[in-house]
Amino acid sequence: MNIKTIKLTKILESLAYRGGHNNNFYDTNLAIDSLEKKASKEFIGRKLTDIGCGDGVNTLKIAKVLKANTVLGYEMSKPLADEARKNGLDIIDQKEGQMISGDLGVLWGVAHHFDNPEEDIYQYMKGFKSFIIREPTDWWRLFEAGKRYREEKMTQMIEKAAERCNKKVSKIIVNEAKSVLYFIN
Ligand SMILES: C[S@@+](CC[C@H](N)C(=O)[O-])C[C@H]1O[C@@H](n2cnc3c(N)ncnc32)[C@H](O)[C@@H]1O
Repeated sequence: MNIKTIKLTKILESLAYRGGHNNNFYDTNLAIDSLEKKASKEFIGRKLTDIGCGDGVNTLKIAKVLKANTVLGYEMSKPLADEARKNGLDIIDQKEGQMISGDLGVLWGVAHHFDNPEEDIYQYMKGFKSFIIREPTDWWRLFEAGKRYREEKMTQMIEKAAERCNKKVSKIIVNEAKSVLYFIN
């Protein structure tokens, strides 16, 4: 992507999030149900860090189904971070390029917003012992500030990032939620 397109995307994102809400264009609850049913025991009871946690609503649901020991959100958008705080999440205002590390990292509907997804996923993943990524697969979804990737392409980028971290990826396609869940360990 060229610089102009990146800038336009960032402007659209900040407009979309200015009210403190990140509208979901997919059925989040169905993906979270699958997470609850399908996450293996290694992902249960961990110290969870949700990067790009938005308004924190999904973060709290994810933490609940994974019985997280602790939960922390990072968010770059000030309106979304403020809303997440109001929703009761412990949150850090994330700075551009900030290194984040921890136990179990989560990117829930965030990776398709990255400027350089493969590198950006790697930069986040390398700071964590384990990682979960959820990405939409609905090619025909209506406008959302992020970019569209075919499932095969996103899987390839996540696998390459995981290989650089000496980690393995398992994936679950959740058709009813038009999503893929990636478990990286
Ligand atoms: C569609 S929202 C998803 C929010 C939340 N994870 C959820 O599921 O409700 C996309 C989020 O990605 C965040 N984001 C975009 N680019 C990012 C980046 N480079 N690093 C971290 N977060 C980013 C945005 O600030 C926004 O919170």
